[in-house]
Amino acid sequence: MSTPSLAVQITTPELKLLQALIYQECGMYFDERRMHFLQNRLLGRLKECRLDSFYSYYRLLISPDGKQELSRLLEDLTVNETSFFRSKAQLDLFHKYLLDDILQAKQAQGDYSLRFWSAGCSTGQEPYTLAMLVADGLAYYCLRNPSAFPGAYPKPLIPPPWKVEILASDINYSVLRAGEEGIYSENQMASVDYSYRLRYFDKVGERYAVKKQVKELVHFDFHNLKTQYQPQGNDAIFCRNVMMYFDQAEQKRLIEKFRRCLNPNGYLFVGHAESLRGLSDKFAMVHRNSGTGYQRIEEAE
Ligand SMILES: C[S@@+](CC[C@H](N)C(=O)[O-])C[C@H]1O[C@@H](n2cnc3c(N)ncnc32)[C@H](O)[C@@H]1O
Repeated sequence: MSTPSLAVQITTPELKLLQALIYQECGMYFDERRMHFLQNRLLGRLKECRLDSFYSYYRLLISPDGKQELSRLLEDLTVNETSFFRSKAQLDLFHKYLLDDILQAKQAQGDYSLRFWSAGCSTGQEPYTLAMLVADGLAYYCLRNPSAFPGAYPKPLIPPPWKVEILASDINYSVLRAGEEGIYSENQMASVDYSYRLRYFDKVGERYAVKKQVKELVHFDFHNLKTQYQPQGNDAIFCRNVMMYFDQAEQKRLIEKFRRCLNPNGYLFVGHAESLRGLSDKFAMVHRNSGTGYQRIEEAE
């Protein structure tokens, strides 16, 4: 390897090769508007690897020794912006209206296990928000339906026989580690009101740590949405602000995969700037106020 010159230019064929590789690996598509970002990040990785051409960098990525560098590159290309209680109206739709329907339907079937998936969870604010909302939603449900709650004391976060599992997945290992740690700064807590802070966080110095009982509901795992295998049996999937980085063909494939990963009548939530319009006719839109979600349509028997 040689010392790279500062003025390494990427050629069009090199750019096309790298773009195609990234798309094939994770579904991210870089159009004209995001081209500058892509080139910048590629240059950063090229320098880090001390290579002198983008073609050598491409060769490294596709070589058996390039796996680790490929993950590093994908980490550098992901946008990890997130926050607690993001898209409040949509979360209200979920926990004030739809969650109740899910609980009733499950209870009627004698099935007390709930499974949610935050796909593209970034640093954990989304899955922990879900954990808090589901815990509150279940407590309220059991208050109104006392027969579903034997009244154990002290009250557990998730009243038995209910079980809650939240899968939090991402392609970026460093955000997954931050999520697993579950410690957030005052800035990151800006959208968490005092009642949630009191009940679901411990103050650690200047920061807030998610309480153990909440953490136990969330399982962080590496998962690439581009791959065929996807976790099954979900009552709802939150894949928000992820699809917007994919092209239309990849979005269609992903939505079809999500459909198969949902339980009958399950819900899919996408980001505020995303929609299923023109991508799938196998979901029905549900909305309240300005919150929107999609319910899987079941074929008539
Ligand atoms: C903008 S963040 C959204 C976080 C959260 N869902 C929210 O709305 O606040 C997008 C996340 O998607 C992840 N991501 C991008 N491509 C992915 C892929 N192919 N598989 C899994 N996660 C991916 C990124 O690493 C990033 O953490």
